[in-house]
Amino acid sequence: MTSQLFRPLTLRGMTFSNRVWVAPMCQYSATDGVASSWHMQHLGALATGRPGLIITEAAAVSPEGRITQGCLGLWTDEQAEALAPIVEFIHGQGVPIAVQLAHSGRKGSTWSPWTGVGAVDAADGGWQTIAPSPIAFSDWPEPCEMTETDIASVTKAFADAARRAVAVGVDTVELHSAHGYLMHEFLSPLSNQRTDGYGGSLANRMRFPLEVIDAVRAALPDDRPLLMRVSGTDWVEGGWDIEQTVIFAREAQARGVDLVDLSSAGLHHEQNIPFARGYQVPFSARVRKEVGVPTGAVGLIIEPEQAEAILADGEADVVLIGRAMLRQPHWPLLAAHALGEQVEWPPQYEKGRPH
Ligand SMILES: Cc1cc2nc3c(=O)[nH]c(=O)nc-3n(C[C@H](O)[C@H](O)[C@H](O)COP(=O)(O)O)c2cc1C
Repeated sequence: MTSQLFRPLTLRGMTFSNRVWVAPMCQYSATDGVASSWHMQHLGALATGRPGLIITEAAAVSPEGRITQGCLGLWTDEQAEALAPIVEFIHGQGVPIAVQLAHSGRKGSTWSPWTGVGAVDAADGGWQTIAPSPIAFSDWPEPCEMTETDIASVTKAFADAARRAVAVGVDTVELHSAHGYLMHEFLSPLSNQRTDGYGGSLANRMRFPLEVIDAVRAALPDDRPLLMRVSGTDWVEGGWDIEQTVIFAREAQARGVDLVDLSSAGLHHEQNIPFARGYQVPFSARVRKEVGVPTGAVGLIIEPEQAEAILADGEADVVLIGRAMLRQPHWPLLAAHALGEQVEWPPQYEKGRPH
């Protein structure tokens, strides 16, 4: 039997050997944005599970673009070079790697989950956040409204980070335009109340993310697919929604985005999320059908059969698995077994193959 999950996928000049991808997951274990031995073991273990692609946690394109002080960064060459041995190990497993490029906007300068809750003061190493408008997230500190110079400088930082990543062997990048971080803050009318060319109409709210796409596309080699994560809705009345997402995905595809990864939420503390198995899959299905762009589905996709059905039903081109991969880094190998597929195991682990 040939499953959908273990069929290869080609985007531009890259062929992914299967359609089980590792979702980006912050590890809060970097120092000054530099990857540590934790990243080698975490990403290395995931690579031995032989997914079709590993997408790293959000890597900030500038110091103030970090969520926490432990976030990965790509604003210096030293940060990029620290990824090189990790990339080499992952490639040795026959697995490609994408870095997720991000700017936290008004949701930066916070404690990592096991060090505290909420915003970090300047005395504890926190920083002034920036955003499209001076509107705070929940009861966090008010961000500084970005000038057009700030917008141009962050756009350039995204392109520079993409170049740095590719220079050390990273295959490609995913742009983080979801979860209430900077690009999403420009998209949503709840966080963007600008009166210049970057706010107001949908075309204006999309302007900054589209400029980032243009800049990063130009920085990437032509044969590398550009991936983008977007929130399909804010789950808040009057916010970003799936209709706007469809229009944004169409524009993004026209500018060179090759796959849209459909998540949701993160922008507003009053969000009301109907958590359930595969609850975000309908966003992927709709964008795939209406835009015709390849999509990724993510969120509470847990069993191989569930993942297989999403692809078989034409609701996505790939599935991204997050927490289930933390529980079981060899999820793809075990999924292949469950679906009756013969895939290659790391020879060191061959004796562990179920019979
Ligand atoms: C520990 C952890 C860290 C995460 N960090 C990121 C991140 O850096 N970027 C991102 O886009 N999503 C992040 N997410 C969201 C996941 O990529 C994924 O969308 C979410 O966990 C839902 O998928 P799941 O049910 O398979 O875990 C994170 C999730 C977890 C659990």
